[in-house]
Amino acid sequence: VTIADKVTVQMGKRTYDIIIGSAVLESAGVYISAATSANHFVIITDNNIPESYISTIKCALNKARIDVVKIAAGESSKSFSCFNSLLDSIFETLPDRNTTLIALGGGVVGDIVGFAASVILRGIDFIQIPTTLLSQVDSSVGGKTGINNKFGKNLIGSFYQPKLVLIDIDTLKTLPKREFLAGYAEVVKYGLINDKAFFNWLDDNLDDILSMQPAALKKIITTSCKSKAEIVAQDEKESGVRALLNLGHTFAHALEHQAGYDGSLVHGEAVSIGMVMAFCLSNRLGFCSDKDIDVVKHHLVRSGLPIYPSEIKKIWDVDLLLEAMKQDKKVSDGMLVFILVKSIGDAFIQKNVAANVVRDTILQNIINS
Ligand SMILES: NC(=O)c1ccc[n+]([C@@H]2O[C@H](COP(=O)([O-])OP(=O)(O)OC[C@H]3O[C@@H](n4cnc5c(N)ncnc54)[C@H](O)[C@@H]3O)[C@@H](O)[C@H]2O)c1
Ligand SMILES: [Zn+2]
Repeated sequence: VTIADKVTVQMGKRTYDIIIGSAVLESAGVYISAATSANHFVIITDNNIPESYISTIKCALNKARIDVVKIAAGESSKSFSCFNSLLDSIFETLPDRNTTLIALGGGVVGDIVGFAASVILRGIDFIQIPTTLLSQVDSSVGGKTGINNKFGKNLIGSFYQPKLVLIDIDTLKTLPKREFLAGYAEVVKYGLINDKAFFNWLDDNLDDILSMQPAALKKIITTSCKSKAEIVAQDEKESGVRALLNLGHTFAHALEHQAGYDGSLVHGEAVSIGMVMAFCLSNRLGFCSDKDIDVVKHHLVRSGLPIYPSEIKKIWDVDLLLEAMKQDKKVSDGMLVFILVKSIGDAFIQKNVAANVVRDTILQNIINS
């Protein structure tokens, strides 16, 4: 048995721990009773999550009253109507202020459960047990919760921190490979933002990561959580440095929007393509070298992630992409704001990026593939 890692997210009174290791579900009872005195738990999960994870948690919480609510897997559950049904299901369990919600699943479950916890009885506790690599390295840190509406993604939500996050790396064994890689794009992102040594480590240890060696998985998740925790602790509500986490994301959101959320392009794949575009844009503006672009592309290709839009079976329209980017919330005063890089591990926020340079960059990446 290996010892689990612990990352503390410093949030003043709302400080919480992230536990990362093998067989964490089996020990969930110990961690949870240290974090909360609740005696009623509602486990909320989606219908793809293996039953064995639920029963292991129930077993670990043996003395408590436990209810289980399932939602449909997929982004469509982040709608207002599904949210309302979820609230009804939770109220059917007769919650009180000592009830704690447990989000067991990927980022969809985490976002919707966090939002529910923030509004039920004006706020009850919740615990995250993320089971996708993406939710383990990204959405479980930082307390953004929310749902979508027809105007866009995550437009309705709150900042609400969990009491505890339990990451069991063994749950990644049942995750589809494509979802694993999508989460891996976010891991690479942390190296590219401010940690060249981590990027180099990823490059040297990629085979162990892709073959899911436990030590490698623990290392990438712990490093990613620490990295995001540090940034979020400095800037919880994204008024400054937290924006660095959007490296590649302005491009990614436009690509996802144009692909139409039909499963042809998942978020992490869009981030991979978007990070390459961010490097190319930085290069065009004279900030980073050709060599850095090549090193990043080479790593992403070796991982099995797409780096060009043409790898996705869609027709891409550069002007519609640009239009979508202007509507993205990362636009201030009509000027495009981008996260650019001086080199691998040295990202910065640049305001006033001219739209025509962005257009040229997208076009180059659409054609150049
Ligand atoms: N709050 C934040 O800061 C934040 C950050 C990034 C992303 N997000 C949100 O996260 C969502 C994406 O999260 P995601 O990529 O985890 O997607 P997801 O929650 O849809 O999970 C992906 C798929 O994997 C399945 N699955 C999950 N765990 C599994 C396991 N261990 N074994 C087998 N199947 C499993 C799910 O049922 C689903 O079909 C988006 O809605 C995004 O907006 C939020
Ligand atoms: Zn992302």
